Amino acid sequence: MAAESGKKWVLTVTAQTPTNIAVIKYWGKRDEDLILPINDSISVTLDPDHLCTTTSVAVSPAFTHDRMWLNGKEVSLSGGRYQNCLRELRSRASDVEDEEKGIKITKKDWEKLHVHVVSYNNFPTAAGLASSAAGLACLVFSLAKLMNVKEDHSKLSAIARQGSGSACRSLYGGFVKWIMGKEENGSDSIAVQLADEKHWDDLVIIIAVVSSRQKETSSTSGMRDTVETSMLIKHRAKEVVPKRIIQMEEAIKNRDFPAFARLTCADSNQFHAVCLDTLPPIFYMNDTSHRQEPFFNSSFINVIVPHFYLPIISCVEKWNRHEETPQVAYTFDAGPNAVLISHNRKAAALLLQRLLFYFPPQSDTDLNSYVIGDKTILKDAG
Ligand code: DP6
Repeated sequence: MAAESGKKWVLTVTAQTPTNIAVIKYWGKRDEDLILPINDSISVTLDPDHLCTTTSVAVSPAFTHDRMWLNGKEVSLSGGRYQNCLRELRSRASDVEDEEKGIKITKKDWEKLHVHVVSYNNFPTAAGLASSAAGLACLVFSLAKLMNVKEDHSKLSAIARQGSGSACRSLYGGFVKWIMGKEENGSDSIAVQLADEKHWDDLVIIIAVVSSRQKETSSTSGMRDTVETSMLIKHRAKEVVPKRIIQMEEAIKNRDFPAFARLTCADSNQFHAVCLDTLPPIFYMNDTSHRQEPFFNSSFINVIVPHFYLPIISCVEKWNRHEETPQVAYTFDAGPNAVLISHNRKAAALLLQRLLFYFPPQSDTDLNSYVIGDKTILKDAG
């Protein structure tokens, strides 16, 4: 390898991966090491301009061990999940040649070379906004590019899955299904794209951030406790989700918003019911009593209110009941932040009006964040 001559070169790749929001949730594993789920799940991948991870990966003969920095702080890569991804990628690496720099790395060299990873989330990490999904998907994608891994997205999704389950769905845009699979080695537990980002592009997703604090119970330990202690999860995984997956696929295919909204809200509510059915109970929607500073400067509206989730659920439910067909769907992941999906820009405009009415901005800073949302989300609202 030209690597030995002088140890001066560095080869880098940078990639950006958006996060995804599950509308039929993944909760519970049948294999903790391989990260194999107990049910299929479906998600929407967000626009990469907003909630995303940017990762640069570098390789150089001068690097003495694998290292990673997340949001400017060094984090350990020694964890089993990172190691599993690195091992899978290294074993599939191919020759890389950069004539300009005089670099030639053979397949065998990748076993000895070390990588450095620098990753940055443009949204709060571990606050229930699926940061691990974007982060691990981006890590796997950028390393695969660097190492010239010649696998398609579905194979890469099976590697990203071993970093964090929900990450496998972030390798595709649009609507994505994570098939739980049957094989013990996880080879068929992969993500597939159900429809691309253009298929239903009048949907508007609004994220109402009530807390950027890290959640107290991580998804990993929460779902482990649920699988060990909840009776409801068994019913959910066996009886409820398989039917909902078929119905959700149909709703997405036909752009049937009433069915999509009904299933999305019901699945979010059942996910949180299953969390409550866990011993000790997990309250992901309970952690909203402190005001936080706004942090988004994108088109996502940043609503800062204490005890937000109950008003938002009842506000959406009442509104939907009042109209001929549902206008908005809500879903909450493992945290108190609300993800609201409206069926077009007009409904999004009305939703923002309602949010402003029920939760008026209480300071100039709050107002700024509303105005940012207003400008970018509402500019074309009919
Ligand atoms: C509530 O993918 O973060 O967001 O596989 O243990 O890393 P691990 O868990 P993670 O769980 C996400 C759970 C969820 C629902 C979902 O995204 O489907």
